[in-house]
Amino acid sequence: MSVEGSRVTDRHFRYVEERTTQEDAFLRELRTTAVREGIPPISIGPAQGAFLQILLRLRGARDVVEVGTLAGYSAIWMARALPPGGRVRTIEFDPRHAAFAARWVAASDVADRVEVVQGRGADVLRTFADASADAAFLDADKASYPEYLEESLRILRPHGLVMVDNAFAFGQLFDEHPTDREAPAVQRFNEIMARETRVQSVIVPLGDGVWVGVKRD
Ligand code: SAH
Ligand code: DHB
Ligand code: MG
Repeated sequence: MSVEGSRVTDRHFRYVEERTTQEDAFLRELRTTAVREGIPPISIGPAQGAFLQILLRLRGARDVVEVGTLAGYSAIWMARALPPGGRVRTIEFDPRHAAFAARWVAASDVADRVEVVQGRGADVLRTFADASADAAFLDADKASYPEYLEESLRILRPHGLVMVDNAFAFGQLFDEHPTDREAPAVQRFNEIMARETRVQSVIVPLGDGVWVGVKRD
């Protein structure tokens, strides 16, 4: 095999999606209701949800921190991978998104494992204790990713997981003049992550690309 591997095409992405654990009826309804209530359709996809669950289960994670709740879709996927007593603390700046998510979390099977915190990611993260989480999922405003990474490394326990969405910058990673205003921030963050010696990390080409890093002890 060559070091380049084989080229991943749209057909491969569809193939993977079709062969990965699907979302259940509750999460499907959450998504369609969120769209109907004017919440943007930018949650992770089912294959990413399944992947995050696998990582959390392998890590034996109990405490998870998320920045960017949106409608609660990813938080519920992750909470379902935690043991009883486990907890996802998920931070959302938009009060409408936070209220929607809190309502759907309360109606879910993991109501006791998800805490929606309304506030700015950076402000709320600063209130979390050192070494109080096993995993962090970063998925909010991309310009703040470097700050979220810094706070996450403080909050994570040794060998904690750092997972970061949108490494492929909404499909515009290689565009010289991206139309999305957050794409340049993703490009900059990827370079920071690539040079970060406190985590061993890799980009996994699922959805819009997800960074997976393990904090060194
Ligand atoms: N993780 C979610 C999707 C998150 S979309 C899922 O996969 O289901 C990004 C969210 O980040 C949006 O709801 C947006 O309102 C929120 N956000 C943007 N800036 C933020 C900030 N500074 N602090 C916290 N949340 C923020
Ligand atoms: C956007 C944000 C995301 O986190 C995502 O996965 C897709 C799109 C956005 O802000 O457009
Ligand atoms: Mg995202």
